[in-house]
Amino acid sequence: MESSTPAAPGPGPGSPPAAGRRPDSQLRELTLRGVTRDYGEHTALHPLDLTVHGGEFVALLGPSGCGKTTALNCLAGLLPLSGGEIALDGRRVDTLPPEKRGFGMVFQNYALFPHLTVRANVGFGLKMRKTGKAEIGRRVDAVLRLVRLTEQAHKHPGQLSGGQQQRVAIARAIVLEPPLVLMDEPLSNLDAALRLQMRGEIRRIHQEFGLTTVYVTHDQEEALSLADRLVVLREGRVSQIGTPADLYETPADPHVAAFMGYRNLLRLEAVTADSQGVLARGRGLELRGTPVADRVLDLREPVVVAIRPENVHLAEGGAPADLTAVAEIVEYHGRQFHVEARTDGGDRVYFKTATRVHPNDPVSLTIPADRALVFRDPQGADLSANQGAGT
Ligand SMILES: Nc1ncnc2c1ncn2[C@@H]1O[C@H](COP(=O)(O)OP(=O)(O)O)[C@@H](O)[C@H]1O
Ligand SMILES: [Mg+2]
Repeated sequence: MESSTPAAPGPGPGSPPAAGRRPDSQLRELTLRGVTRDYGEHTALHPLDLTVHGGEFVALLGPSGCGKTTALNCLAGLLPLSGGEIALDGRRVDTLPPEKRGFGMVFQNYALFPHLTVRANVGFGLKMRKTGKAEIGRRVDAVLRLVRLTEQAHKHPGQLSGGQQQRVAIARAIVLEPPLVLMDEPLSNLDAALRLQMRGEIRRIHQEFGLTTVYVTHDQEEALSLADRLVVLREGRVSQIGTPADLYETPADPHVAAFMGYRNLLRLEAVTADSQGVLARGRGLELRGTPVADRVLDLREPVVVAIRPENVHLAEGGAPADLTAVAEIVEYHGRQFHVEARTDGGDRVYFKTATRVHPNDPVSLTIPADRALVFRDPQGADLSANQGAGT
């Protein structure tokens, strides 16, 4: 991702959204305790513990197949749990069918009624609840204004763009003022420009309406820009729960680091570990870093040193370098060059610089020790597999 700091977090846990009108149905707390789901022999979701506070926007983030949709469908009631319980303000809901939970759902494929107008699609749920006509009209109008579809109200879904259709799906979910809105990759069918625009819309709607939301995505930028807190999943287990800043500054393990844009992941061996940090060595490299865990590393312990490309700098004016390499791929990104270089030992190193670099240029690089995070090596794991996009 381009910016070095995530978007400012929104309304924090428990605090009402700034501009938001909090619907009467707003919940105070959603709790998941040991929520588990098996498909036959395969456990898609290992015991998940999570508390979501009223008005909060929580994103479930992880690569495809990590169990995001399974978790969301368990919440929605579309999948029975294999274990654990779910409670809304202390009242168990995991035994209730989806319609009794009354959650708003937004799916990747919109799932609109093609034969109904936008207005009728949005009003459908209220009609099912036998809400009065005048009340339906008032609430549908208000929500259509919120999602900026007033002008399109008479059209059918087939006459709308993908982004507009997704806004109808969002309007249909929020018009019911549900205690909880669940969204499963709602933007992944849209093209890149529209995805960015809709991301802003979702954030705005959340701020104005203040509905508690659980949002599923595999896109780390999307999750960071939208969510108050993120739950990073990997192979059905929670890797870390935290605010965007928590995950960004102190990822819990190399996998979360990879997802958060720590593109340089060097497998080395700890040589010394003291109050100055860790010295790690391997394949001609010698780097100083900061251990992430409290536990003191054993000497000769295999470690992964994780560094963001923006924290690798060209050594200026003959300053001593932490490593030397040869530039291989140079991409121009406006004010910056994104460079992929290779060390003598064969390690790939990614960095960003405003200085013009050409392929085959030798480069001397420095890495501040406080920006090099040292993790115990999750032995055998493929660290390249879950790198977030767009570093
Ligand atoms: N109906 C199903 N039957 C068997 N396995 C499933 C089923 N649905 C999902 N899985 C498996 O469960 C895991 C998690 O899937 P899913 O929750 O859809 O992941 P995600 O939404 O993160 O991509 C995957 O390994 C997937 O293959
Ligand atoms: Mg999914």
